[in-house]
Amino acid sequence: MHEPTSAAPEEPAPAQGPTLFDWEFATDPYPAYAWLREHSPVHRTRLPSGVEAWLVTRYADARQALADQRLSKNPEHHAEPAHAKGKTGIPGERKAELMTHLLNIDPPDHTRLRRLVSKAFTPRRVAEFAPRVQELTDHLIDAFAGRGEADLIHEFAFPLPIYAICEMLGVPREDQDDFRDWAGMMIRHGGGPRGGVARSVKQMRAYLGELIHRKRDDLGNDLISDLIRASDHGDHLTEAEATAMAFILLFAGFETTVNLIGNGVHSLFMNPGERARLQSSLAAGERDLLETGVEELLRYDGPVELATWRFATRPLVLGGQEIAVGDPVLVVLAAADRDPARFADPDALDLSRSDNQHLGYGHGIHYCLGAPLARLEGQTALATLLTRLPDLELAVPPTDLRWRGGLIMRGLRTLPVRFTPR
Ligand code: HEM
Repeated sequence: MHEPTSAAPEEPAPAQGPTLFDWEFATDPYPAYAWLREHSPVHRTRLPSGVEAWLVTRYADARQALADQRLSKNPEHHAEPAHAKGKTGIPGERKAELMTHLLNIDPPDHTRLRRLVSKAFTPRRVAEFAPRVQELTDHLIDAFAGRGEADLIHEFAFPLPIYAICEMLGVPREDQDDFRDWAGMMIRHGGGPRGGVARSVKQMRAYLGELIHRKRDDLGNDLISDLIRASDHGDHLTEAEATAMAFILLFAGFETTVNLIGNGVHSLFMNPGERARLQSSLAAGERDLLETGVEELLRYDGPVELATWRFATRPLVLGGQEIAVGDPVLVVLAAADRDPARFADPDALDLSRSDNQHLGYGHGIHYCLGAPLARLEGQTALATLLTRLPDLELAVPPTDLRWRGGLIMRGLRTLPVRFTPR
């Protein structure tokens, strides 16, 4: 499907390709990704930070790269000279203990930590949490339902995952607003180690470290207690490892879920036919379309545009392209998930799509650990919004919406909506 068809006389492809990472690209990257998939599927580019990296845009190559053990997650394998590293914004290049987490390590360390955390963060624990996610969702909607207008990012999509993961971890209610503030600082200013962000990360770490220390003597029915209890053939997480784990659960599970909800509602606004279909199915008390629908929203315009960094530890060939040792590789999940070689009519939103093995949660050993929680939050948030505020609509022209334009994540800055007050 990728071979150019010989019948129609085609415009010669511009040698340079599309402009990446500018404002227009942040608003709608999909035409540029379509060009790359077709003409330069493993594409060397200079990122805004100045770092050179390969972008992998076809589904088959992306899936291969995500599972390829020659591509390391450890930033030590990056070939850039050390003096340039401070400017890259590559997570984990700072040596802090906090950064030794699942997304920055390889087997066997990754295998050990993932096994231990999987004993604590189980699908069963997530399922038991469902009623509480519903309560949190309703509570947030109660706060603006009478007003007839809201910013769905700040008042809904942003606080929901923060409160959810705090509760799951066992952060006492009176401290959860601190996390809301720290996370707000991180999302507004990106993950970089600048000023307020560095301070927020430090405060969050100090808080989590202390909480874990306290809970050690007073285990309860929460995820932190389970992280402390988790054992594998006598092996346990150290306090520092449990702290880093709690931090990555917050960090990996927060902005992603904000954007799952924000991008999801936005996609439904842009596709009124699919939205109406979902609303009538919810009104009939059905859940099937909601479940396939949230997967489709992830494929269609998911929160993670590019998977996190990988670095070649051995020379390899990917999509016919030679990758040298030390080269950074970025797998563009958003491009792979619109590949016509894998998905029928990929640019159409089809909430009942059944053949939908999208890469929105990654693939291979780093496959999203939080996927069951993300699904629960995404399904609860969308179903409750559409049921309680059935005439919810965008309060500004779509062209007024601004996207964040970060490298890894795709999400809206604000999502102003209006509806009949209830
Ligand atoms: C890993 C996506 C929500 C925790 C990943 C990866 C992706 C992803 C693509 C793999 C990254 C890579 O291979 O480079 C998402 C999306 C979410 C979401 C789209 C929401 C819609 C969550 C939540 C949590 C979470 C709610 C936890 C509370 C993690 C962790 C990893 C991870 C710990 C690292 C796993 C490992 O390296 O073994 N996620 N995520 N995620 N995610 Fe999520």
